[in-house]
Amino acid sequence: MMSLEGFKIIDESKQGEQMMVEPSGKSSGKKLFLESYGCSMNFADSEVVASILIGQGFQTTKDMNEADVIFVNTCAIRDNAEQKIRSRLFEFKKAKRKKPEMIIGILGCMAERLKSQLLEEEKLVDIVAGPDSYRDLPNLLSQVESGHRAVNVLLSREETYADISPVRLDQNGVTAFVSIMRGCDNMCSFCVVPFTRGRERSRDPESIITETKQLFEDGYREVTLLGQNVDSYLWWGGGQKKELPTETVNAALNHLLPEAEQSKFTTFADLLELVAQVHPDLRVRFSTSNPRDMTDAVLYSMTKFENICKYIHLPVQSGNTRILEKMNRGYSREDYIKRIESIKKIMPECSISTDIITGFCSETEEEHQDTLSLMKWSKYFYAYMFSYSERPGTAAEKKFEDDISPAVKARRLQEIVDLQRLLSEEQTKAGLGKIHKVLIESVSKKSPDMLCGRNTQNTVVVFPKGNHKRGEYINVLATSCTSATLIGTVV
Ligand code: 5AD
Ligand code: SF4
Repeated sequence: MMSLEGFKIIDESKQGEQMMVEPSGKSSGKKLFLESYGCSMNFADSEVVASILIGQGFQTTKDMNEADVIFVNTCAIRDNAEQKIRSRLFEFKKAKRKKPEMIIGILGCMAERLKSQLLEEEKLVDIVAGPDSYRDLPNLLSQVESGHRAVNVLLSREETYADISPVRLDQNGVTAFVSIMRGCDNMCSFCVVPFTRGRERSRDPESIITETKQLFEDGYREVTLLGQNVDSYLWWGGGQKKELPTETVNAALNHLLPEAEQSKFTTFADLLELVAQVHPDLRVRFSTSNPRDMTDAVLYSMTKFENICKYIHLPVQSGNTRILEKMNRGYSREDYIKRIESIKKIMPECSISTDIITGFCSETEEEHQDTLSLMKWSKYFYAYMFSYSERPGTAAEKKFEDDISPAVKARRLQEIVDLQRLLSEEQTKAGLGKIHKVLIESVSKKSPDMLCGRNTQNTVVVFPKGNHKRGEYINVLATSCTSATLIGTVV
């Protein structure tokens, strides 16, 4: 995948990152090596996994050779993600040869997709645990210790890990992810997520607020609310939305019920306002929005609070209506344009980023041009751009032929990437000469004398260190830029 700087859905720089936490008092002396791949949601899940194992007395380690347990939290979204992980599993197996009592577990989306194949046929791992089975990990570990196979790939209709407070792994202490829902019911024809993460379910807003308040007290100054499709978040006093009639759910999601009824529900727009009220100094971001389900109510909630960042990640996937239909996205090119028009009308300063898949089944050159023209019209700040990768079991795999050659996919992807580079540059340049309110996150990777953070639009801003510290807000006048970073001075 090619990506530009900024907040990333799948952050290339983090793939395969080992996650560490400071040792606490009660240790059993056992060591966990935890490596993660995939999207932010997966990294957030690893924090739940770490919390569960630390509760069992584990400490984390960055050295796989000293580990008692190796867990790899995996991604299945494209074939290349799986190939990378597979080669890592062979390396872990080598480490196990030197230390046969070591336990290797595969967690997450690839575990869910391949089920027991990696354990039984390929004998690469000892534990297979899908995304909804992490509470069962202590039990799976003891099954292995007593010589049994340990597989749990049951998907749940309720599990949200609401009561588990994630341990924050290797973070900057300023920004954190908070998962607000799990699973996905959208069934885009190319996507494996509904199969690996199961049915969509929302998390109790009270537990979201409690977690957010705790983060603020611990010094965090930004939360990103995570879900595969945040716009379909819905909580209703008694429980999950699946227990309600579809008409009621749709009316509630669109804020169409009589006030007395509507007030029993928490929609995503309501949740955003609740989280924004935790503290005016706590920035709120969210990902991912869905063009099919986003409502203007979310946009109005964003305008009400300065601390809700003016940035929306709105994956388009393709700029052509026929391809969008084949992808089962539930919107046309025109619908998408209307969505962006209302964002721009309600919040002219809002930045928009997107995801694009090129070379989907039967895509013609003209249809590819439609994607390029929609990119130009939308003026994306960033884009995450992929060639189509056929995933076993998806509707596209069953119904359509993956008939665009790798060479054509690669050429179209390059055209998309080249165009996006220009668009990003244009958007970054538009920030020159302006003052940006920046939340300081860390020392700049390129220079120890510079700090970096982001403005509300999610553009990275770099400036001289002075006496400033991470977690502070400062105003920076942007005086120069690279393609995706503003450079400036504190004013
Ligand atoms: N092939 C290529 N890209 C994909 N994505 C999801 N499934 C596939 C696939 N089969 C991309 C979409 C999605 C992002 C997270 O990954 O653009 O928005
Ligand atoms: Fe995240 Fe999808 Fe990859 Fe699972 S398959 S880790 S949901 S990107």
